Order: sequence, then C-alpha cells, then structure tokens
Amino acid sequence: MDKFTIHKSTLSGEVCVSGSKNAALPIIAATILTDEDCILHNVPDLMDIRTMVKILEGLGKQINFENGTMVIKATKKCGYVAPYRLVRTMRASFCVLGPLLARRRKAKVSLPGGCVIGVRPVDLHIKGLKLLNADIKIERGYCVADGKNMRGSHLYLGGQFGSSVLATDNIMMAATLIDGETIIEYAACEPEVESLGLFLQKMGADITGQGSPLLRIRGVKKLGGCEFDIIPDRIEAGTFLAASLATNSPLVIKGANPFHLTSAIEIVKEMGAEVHIDNARSIKVSPRGSLKPVNITTLPYPGFPTDLQAQFMICLCFAKGISLITEKIYPDRFMHVAELNRMGAGIQRSGPYAIIEGKEKLYGAEVMASDLRASAALVIAGMAAEDKTEVFRVYHIDRGYEHIEEKLRKLGAKIKREKQ
Ligand code: UD1
Repeated sequence: MDKFTIHKSTLSGEVCVSGSKNAALPIIAATILTDEDCILHNVPDLMDIRTMVKILEGLGKQINFENGTMVIKATKKCGYVAPYRLVRTMRASFCVLGPLLARRRKAKVSLPGGCVIGVRPVDLHIKGLKLLNADIKIERGYCVADGKNMRGSHLYLGGQFGSSVLATDNIMMAATLIDGETIIEYAACEPEVESLGLFLQKMGADITGQGSPLLRIRGVKKLGGCEFDIIPDRIEAGTFLAASLATNSPLVIKGANPFHLTSAIEIVKEMGAEVHIDNARSIKVSPRGSLKPVNITTLPYPGFPTDLQAQFMICLCFAKGISLITEKIYPDRFMHVAELNRMGAGIQRSGPYAIIEGKEKLYGAEVMASDLRASAALVIAGMAAEDKTEVFRVYHIDRGYEHIEEKLRKLGAKIKREKQ
C-alpha cells in the first residue's frame, strides 16, 4: 500500500483539470444500450474507471483505453451479471442495472452494500425501476431483475435527502428503450446527470429536460453509437480551489467549467479570496491572507457539493472565528474530523453538524485516509500544516484523482509517494 509524505508547501502556477470520473462512469455504462461503437474522449485514467471497464468486458464489450480516449465495441457475448467482487469496490457499478434491463431485458447486479460515508441505500433505484414495471427480487445479495414487461411511467424520484444522482441515471437509461413515455419528477440536476442525458440523446434517445428536475423520455426502438467528450471534473477543480485557500497560494485552474462550481466559488469569495473567471474554462483564485469563517450546507446541485465538504473543512480550520458545516446529503460523512483534530484542528461534530474553530496553525501528523474526498482533504491539510504529514491508505485518492501528486508537485507541493 502506498502512502504520501507531505511537507508544508506554497503553491503557484496553473493546473489542468481531468475529465470527470462521475460523468464518465454512467456514460460508459450507457454504452450497454447499443451494439455500435462508442468513442469517449477526456476519460480520466482512474481505478474506478478501470473497474467499470472490467464490468463491461464481463458483459461482452471490447474496450480499448489509451491516452484518455476509450473505444467501446460490442462482441457476440451478451452478459447480464455484474458480480459482487467488482460492485463492492465501487458503488457506481450499480448503474449498469438500468441499461441492462433496457437492452437485455434482464439483469443480475450485486447490491453495493454500505460504505464508510454512510448507509447509502438503493431503494430509489429499485422503486423507479419497479414503477417502469420491472420485476425485481433481491436474492443472495443480488438484485435480480426481469424487464420483459417494462413500459414508460410517470414517477417521482425524491428521497429523504432529495434527489439521487445514480438513481436518476439508472431510470433515465432504462426508459430510453422501453415502450411509452417516462416522466421523472425530482430528477437530479447535477452536471454529470445532464451530461449523461446529452450522451443518450446523441445515441438517438428521445429525451428532454436535461439538467432540470423534470425529465421526459420517450422510448425508441434502437440506439446507435456516437463520439462524446467527457465534461471536466468539477470536484477536482473545487479541490484545487480548497488547496489554494488552505495554503494561501494563487492558482489558475484550467480546463474547468466555472459554471458547474458557482456554489463553491461563492464560498471562496465569502472567505475573502479573489476569484477571476477568465472564460468558460478557467478559474483564477487569489487568496488574500487571512480567511473569514463561513457556514456551508451541502445540498443537491446547484447547492454546495457534499464531495467538496471535507476539502473546504480544512480551509475553515484556518479561518479566524467559528464556522459551521451542515452535511445534508450524507450526515455521517465526517471521518476526516478525527484525523484533522489529530493535526491540531478545533472541530466538534454533532450529528450532521461540524463546528470549526479556526486556528493559526495545524501540525503535521500520521493520518489515515478513509474515503476518496477525505483523502484529498488530508493531502491539502498536509500541504497547509507545519512540518511533515504522512497520509496512509492513499489508494482511496487514486480512485478519483488522476496523477494527483504529479499535478501538485508541478505547482510546488512537497509531496512524495512511498511504499508503506
Ligand atoms: C453520486 C456521486 C457521489 C456524490 C453523490 C451525492 C457518482 C458516481 N457518485 O453518488 O460522488 O457524493 O452523488 O452528490 O456520481 N439515497 C437514498 N436512496 C437511494 C439512493 C440515494 O436514500 O436509492 C440517498 C443517499 O443515501 C444520499 C442521497 O440520497 O443521502 C444522495 O445520494 P445519491 O445522489 O444517490 O448519490 P450517488 O448517486 O450514489
């Protein structure tokens, strides 16, 4: 297992954001809907993407992935099983269920189970597919589904925490090839969901409302292949925003779409940094010394993303005064709090709230990465803290950040990957 050794660093210069993992994963799954070739550009080379490739190869796709371009072809094999050994390593694998039901009319997909950031149920996925008349049973940890009688329907997809990204993806994909019209109310509006809708449209699907909470899908007989560019990763871009604030370093974040990050950019400005949006693909951030405390509430898009909560918490550790974070998507997503406190932070957690008392300094320590975004926060903490920090279990970060240490090193970070 690898670890990162990090020393206090000041950053400067330009960094280029990779393609979005969370946009690419459901789009790769959506190619199940066609037997024609699909070509995807700007695909990040990450462990989660490799897992999705393995699942699709098991289902009969032939995939070539080189230099960010993925060519996906169908073979004669027509599988319908996504096994536990792959699904358990990545929850997003569950989004092959919708396309398998639509294309193969049957699916056997392992249930993903819980994970470190919370329980993460899939009830909304199953509710939505059942409303499309899929016959679904849970057998020995698998979701076993029969889609031969599926038809369009009008459904409401809101849950206790609002909309669901991957449930919307699953239902939208399932509806593309079944008879009749499907209307999804309370669809997730995240840019990654919008992007999947645009990809499906390019394949020939009849969809309107992409990017809005109301999606209308009319089933078509067949979908074809197409070529598509994966959107930039807004969470990676937001992580660099947080790195800039926490280390008091000016940065230019290139290849990012600032309009996908409005809520985070507002927080950066409230904390006292200057943000300049050059054009639709570049963000210049210039911190101005001391940071102001703010309150952040994570919400479905266009609210502040839960996937940036941990990274911004480390910035608040240096703000002069008291800040409050309210986690409304995953109330237990605070595994990083104990690790940051071991570095000298003043954070108190109570249920879905974290109260952060800003400090002058944090101090390097040995810390353990618990999940993807918490790992990114600990790397930022390591660059902002005095002396040396060692971050263990960095395989989490490799799931979601392409060449992270090379990118940070180019900006001046003192970060080294070592075998544990
Ligand atoms: C996606 C992202 C993840 C991000 C999350 C929230 C991908 C691959 N992953 O995950 O990085 O943190 O959106 O923005 O795109 N819920 C239910 N029942 C369900 C499904 C979800 O109650 O059937 C709840 C969840 O527990 C959570 C909330 O709804 O509280 C939102 O989760 P959801 O949008 O589904 O997250 P994912 O799509 O799994």
